[in-house]
Amino acid sequence: MLFQDFLDAVLGLFLGADAVSSGAETLPPGAVKVSPQGNCITPVLYEGSPAGYMINVSGTQMYVTEPKGHVKKGHGLLYLSDVLGLAAPDNLILADSFARQGYFVLAPDLYQGHPAPDDHDRPDLGFNATEFLDAHPISITDPVVELAIKTMRTAFNITKVASAGYCFGAKYTFRFSTAEKAAAGLGVDVIVVAHPTNVTDEEIEARVAPASIAAGQYDMYMPEQRRWQIESALLATNYGASMDLYSDVPHGFAIRVNLSDPVARFVKQEVFNQHITWLDYWMPKVPGY
Ligand SMILES: *[C@@H]1O[C@H](CO)[C@@H](O)[C@H](O)[C@H]1NC(C)=O
Ligand SMILES: *[C@@H]1O[C@H](CO)[C@@H](O)[C@H](O)[C@H]1NC(C)=O
Ligand SMILES: *[C@@H]1O[C@H](CO)[C@@H](O)[C@H](O)[C@H]1NC(C)=O
Ligand SMILES: *[C@@H]1O[C@H](CO)[C@@H](O)[C@H](O)[C@H]1NC(C)=O
Ligand SMILES: *[C@@H]1O[C@H](CO)[C@@H](O)[C@H](O)[C@H]1NC(C)=O
Repeated sequence: MLFQDFLDAVLGLFLGADAVSSGAETLPPGAVKVSPQGNCITPVLYEGSPAGYMINVSGTQMYVTEPKGHVKKGHGLLYLSDVLGLAAPDNLILADSFARQGYFVLAPDLYQGHPAPDDHDRPDLGFNATEFLDAHPISITDPVVELAIKTMRTAFNITKVASAGYCFGAKYTFRFSTAEKAAAGLGVDVIVVAHPTNVTDEEIEARVAPASIAAGQYDMYMPEQRRWQIESALLATNYGASMDLYSDVPHGFAIRVNLSDPVARFVKQEVFNQHITWLDYWMPKVPGY
């Protein structure tokens, strides 16, 4: 069997178009992945309509997607998106993928209704990254994340808060995982991250939560040297940590992938598996408050 055939066969089974597009909760034969807690991991969604709904909390839009299947009562996932924000269906359906694993998911709009456009990698089309980032400093983003955590705990009765952060959002999973935030009832208890940008060593070292990071070989925002530094920062504390490196993928590999590239599809699923096994192992160990 040619390697490509093998890959197609495996992907065809695991990511079977039927199972994905119909949102079926049952997996095709041979497709079952099991987390350390014995939970099945459903295929990550690549396409489809978002299953959740928007709420407006004091002027901040938040996407909410309710847990499906084997519901993990009181376990919430704070989804902190990349710069494409809630305007990008890819973010909403990835949030839905976590909900299909039994997590209540809430994704706040980190960008005040002005996320980066789809083609933000094309400065010739008028998007100025410097201006965009200047418009979204810590002083504006921290309060949005705080409001999202408060909303999860008070309006949705969430007792344990995990956070998944991508690109711009990754920094804030760490910023809210300190002992101070936990003491204030605003803590992130378990962290999963992919292709982070602008997270500092100090932020990583200040966490009191286990963290798992997915890194990509061709992530221009996390080149090799930076990856090594992040690795050291992760290991500088006694809180659990893991970092998985995926070859042949660019920045954004956990969210927006080239759907006709089998490796890119495979990696998106693998990152999702990495994150789910991390959450399913650590979340039950969080005391909750
Ligand atoms: C959200 O609520 C605020 C008031 O809290 C209101 O001013 C705003 O128009 C609402 N936005 C949307 C999109 O509904
Ligand atoms: C982007 O915005 C910054 C700050 O306003 C400005 O200094 C820079 O020249 C702009 N870049 C481009 C390519 O327009
Ligand atoms: C990047 O991180 C530094 C240090 O935390 C912060 O001062 C800066 O505002 C951040 N920039 C963005 C765009 O988030
Ligand atoms: C909130 O969650 C706690 C713990 O899971 C549970 O005991 C309580 O009944 C829940 N309250 C509501 C209103 O759902
Ligand atoms: C997407 O992947 C296919 C198959 O590998 C490739 O032929 C195509 O050039 C890729 N598209 C982009 C935009 O990279």
